[in-house]
Amino acid sequence: MLKINHLAKAFKHTPVLTDVSLQAEPGELIHIAGENGSGKSTLFKIITGLLTADHGTVKHDPDDVIGALIENPGFLEFENVMTNLRFLAELNHRFDADRIKALLTQFHLDPASRQPVSKYSVGMRQKVGIIQAIMENQTVILLDEPTRGLDPDSIHQFINLMTTLKHEQKTVIVASHDHVAGLDYDQSLVLKDGQLANA
Ligand SMILES: Nc1ncnc2c1ncn2[C@@H]1O[C@H](COP(=O)(O)OP(=O)(O)O)[C@@H](O)[C@H]1O
Ligand SMILES: [Mg+2]
Repeated sequence: MLKINHLAKAFKHTPVLTDVSLQAEPGELIHIAGENGSGKSTLFKIITGLLTADHGTVKHDPDDVIGALIENPGFLEFENVMTNLRFLAELNHRFDADRIKALLTQFHLDPASRQPVSKYSVGMRQKVGIIQAIMENQTVILLDEPTRGLDPDSIHQFINLMTTLKHEQKTVIVASHDHVAGLDYDQSLVLKDGQLANA
């Protein structure tokens, strides 16, 4: 369970989040819409601890593991995809080669590829970004504009993946300026004027 209470964040003197509260239960799929610059990525950065809020709290269960894809994920550019994912998972001692291979295959990426990720397209990088957010069996998953650059079949695979995560009782929050067609959200919210409202 993720519980966000009265978050506020300003950059210099410009408020971005003024009063954001949200409660997300296991098995819930939540959408946060909002125009460019409305603060979606800032909210995700605060939830993951990349940024600190000026006010408010973020709480989750002690055994929750947070996974996130935020903006453009960074990789070891001259290494192949498996080396990258192994490196990231081993940081947390949660490397599961079979799960990673299955996820790569589902997204039509070759686990045995020797190509450096620097040669990957935007959509391919985006898929690797989605995979790193879920490959360690994370329980609270934040996906920032996850379908950016994805082709129709990959969007279809993404929708299947969201359904699987829901059945596994994961908490998933998707932020994007528009809805991903075909996804059935439990909460549909919009971030506007620094606050979350029902969409
Ligand atoms: N590190 C930062 N320093 C200053 N301003 C920032 C920083 N990060 C984001 N902002 C500003 O905060 C606002 C919200 O940005 P962001 O959270 O990236 O919005 P979104 O993800 O919804 O497009 C924008 O006006 C952006 O310019
Ligand atoms: Mg953003």
